[in-house]
Amino acid sequence: MSAEPAGARVTIESIKKRKAAEPPLVCLTAYSAYIARLLDKHVDVLLVGDSLGMVLYGMENTHDVTLEMMIAHARAVAQNSAHALTVVDMPRGTYDTSGGALANAKRLIRETGCDGVKLEGGAAHADTVRHLVDNGINVMGHIGILPQSVQAPGGYKVVGKHPGERSALLEDAAALEDAGVFSIVLEGVIEPLAQDVSRASSVPVIGIGASSHCHGQILVTEDMLALTQNPPRFAKQYARVDSIIQQAVIGFAEDVRARRFPSAEHVYHANIEQFPPRKQTAKPQQKKSAANG
Ligand code: KIV
Repeated sequence: MSAEPAGARVTIESIKKRKAAEPPLVCLTAYSAYIARLLDKHVDVLLVGDSLGMVLYGMENTHDVTLEMMIAHARAVAQNSAHALTVVDMPRGTYDTSGGALANAKRLIRETGCDGVKLEGGAAHADTVRHLVDNGINVMGHIGILPQSVQAPGGYKVVGKHPGERSALLEDAAALEDAGVFSIVLEGVIEPLAQDVSRASSVPVIGIGASSHCHGQILVTEDMLALTQNPPRFAKQYARVDSIIQQAVIGFAEDVRARRFPSAEHVYHANIEQFPPRKQTAKPQQKKSAANG
């Protein structure tokens, strides 16, 4: 459970403190309003990941995801959540220079209302991260497997099996910490190394295909609901929503073909003068966007 008082949003400070506290951080991806509402009160962090390129748009990888796509989805998530900290991925090519990264991160925060951004890379991006942090942007790091840099479908190689990877990964984590990230996503790393990175880190390490020793775990929501093809081995499926959807569609198709749908309760009768409005559920309080320039 989060340490926030009921109704309050999780803060960067409270995430940082979870490095030394139980229980581990619970983090999931969200790309849309209704999914954000469903997940919000059960998780500490909602990440609007650029995995939306594959999950929502059927792209082969995250490489062609644009800033505009991230802004549209992140705004829906930030405006339809009230509890979880919201973080939005900076897409590939939007943080190649420190100046460009700051302009794009400011846009992401200003136009979505999210609490922070995530970008991929370790020591090589530390100066960019520092520049963002110095200018008031909350940054989540991401090391280990870096999907934005993987060139071929077979290129998602677990990190830590080869000599040199251990010290490079520990250096990446230390460089990000030093640059001021508030947490680090650690993706696809062998367990003993993930444990070492977590132990050495002064900020929470959030694992995905890493280790139960991390300070939190994150999954792509659609992977754990069986709504993606070929999910990675580490993505445990908690429900087979694909079968539920198929059953529902088969039921609808059968009803339409047999003229069982629509039935009396699903049509407007002649004595109703106006269409009744669609019922609204209470909307989570809208976030004020954290204006950063
Ligand atoms: O894009 C994404 O969804 C991510 C998570 C897998 C950590 O970066």
